[in-house]
Amino acid sequence: MEPLSRRGVLILGATGAAVAVGGGLVLWSQLPGTPVTPVPPPSEPPEQPPASESNGTLREPEILSSSGGLLELTLTAAMTDDTIAGATVRALTYNGTLPGPTLRVRPGDRIALTVRNELGTETNIHTHGLVVSPEGNSDNVFVMIEAGDSLDYEYQLGDDHPPGVFWYHPHHHGHVAEQLFAGLYGAIIVEGDPVVEPSRERLLVISDIAFDAAGNVAAASQMERMLGREGDIVMVNGQTGGTMSAQPGDLERWRIVNACSSRYLRLRLDGQKLQLLGMDSGHYEAPLDVQEVELMPGNRADILVTATAGTSVLRTLPFDRGGMGRGGGMGGAGAPASATTGANLADFVVSGTPASPTAPMVALPPQRDLRLETMSGVRTLTLAMGGGGGMGGMAFTLDGKLFDEGRIDTEVSYDSLEEWTLVNTSTMDHPFHLHVWPMQLIEVAGVPVTPTDYRDVVPVPAGASTTVRISFSGLSGKTVYHCHILDHEDLGMMGVINTS
Ligand code: C2O
Ligand code: CU
Ligand code: CU
Repeated sequence: MEPLSRRGVLILGATGAAVAVGGGLVLWSQLPGTPVTPVPPPSEPPEQPPASESNGTLREPEILSSSGGLLELTLTAAMTDDTIAGATVRALTYNGTLPGPTLRVRPGDRIALTVRNELGTETNIHTHGLVVSPEGNSDNVFVMIEAGDSLDYEYQLGDDHPPGVFWYHPHHHGHVAEQLFAGLYGAIIVEGDPVVEPSRERLLVISDIAFDAAGNVAAASQMERMLGREGDIVMVNGQTGGTMSAQPGDLERWRIVNACSSRYLRLRLDGQKLQLLGMDSGHYEAPLDVQEVELMPGNRADILVTATAGTSVLRTLPFDRGGMGRGGGMGGAGAPASATTGANLADFVVSGTPASPTAPMVALPPQRDLRLETMSGVRTLTLAMGGGGGMGGMAFTLDGKLFDEGRIDTEVSYDSLEEWTLVNTSTMDHPFHLHVWPMQLIEVAGVPVTPTDYRDVVPVPAGASTTVRISFSGLSGKTVYHCHILDHEDLGMMGVINTS
């Protein structure tokens, strides 16, 4: 059988519909007696303020930069009045803004961060993707900050820390989805050798949120928690309908964060040239020409946009990430709204005098390719949904267990190289996230991944498996891996790893 494209596989996997037959994959809609599921067309009607209803220039969060190798800052988590999509609402914010400030640092820097908790409930913070120690007062997700307290964190970045865009968000098990969905997140940029001198650099933190009639962040129902809550408002940097302006020929570098609790993004910017430089902390040796960029919750993309005259709309298309079962189906009660609903995110208006050409791209050094190396261990981890989950619902498990912070599920030897096969026996996709050690994506649903591709959140499509290779060098300690549909993490789809 012909190998399927990755896109094809993800669509197949997302429906929970790929069936292994004779070692190959067959569309379940091709099997007798099964309904045909339509794949969403590439263009969808706008769901958000269209190009004509602009809400002004797209704003970006305040930038806090390190100097002399140190970034010292305080982040205060509190409930704040805000205006979102034209309504007066109350959200949770860091330092009063949604998203919180952007931290800009360099490899070798130290970040001294005080988190003040004015939420009225426990919280803590996690620096998603940063390759820093998970112990002590570094990126330790096992510590908590009681209501009214504060905690001093300190992160030491290695001199060889990968450049890229990372982010921070709360990680208090049981409340991650609720606190993040309400507005607690911000970006971290680790600078590195410039691949190109862009005309402009932009940060786009994409997130979704929903409010009740009183202007409070909407609580999730039991079904929404099982599916992974989604908001009907999809924002860029806390804004809907923002406008970005450029001149023809401008070469812009966009760093995009998917800070949604559960929503998968399928981003398009039709009419413009897009090149993907890398995902998460990884980079490709040469930029990939793309038309669409898929970001699971937690993923980031580093993109070059070559501006062409005209107005383009940055939008996200529907993505079918599966549902509660085959009966649910795409768009049914047992499937999330994003299976059938996209959103317009921002306008990109390109006009005026053509910009002078920018300098050519500098080639990036090749990344270590773990496919060429001998593994010292192999493991299989199973992501499952099953009965007996309490609340009269499903249990979301990792290796048949619910999260227990007092248990170590996976012991790894420091400096080892391991191949992990992530098996998803459920009818929903699960984006798998490992803290601290980046994963090289090797294979998704039987399809090998080329070129060398490092991520900290990898796709594990419904009813399929994913293979990654990991180098457990540089740092040791105890931390977690989990589904980055944060409701699933809160429901227990998380395990503890100790590297020593
Ligand atoms: Cu972005 Cu453990 O999380
Ligand atoms: Cu993380
Ligand atoms: Cu999940």
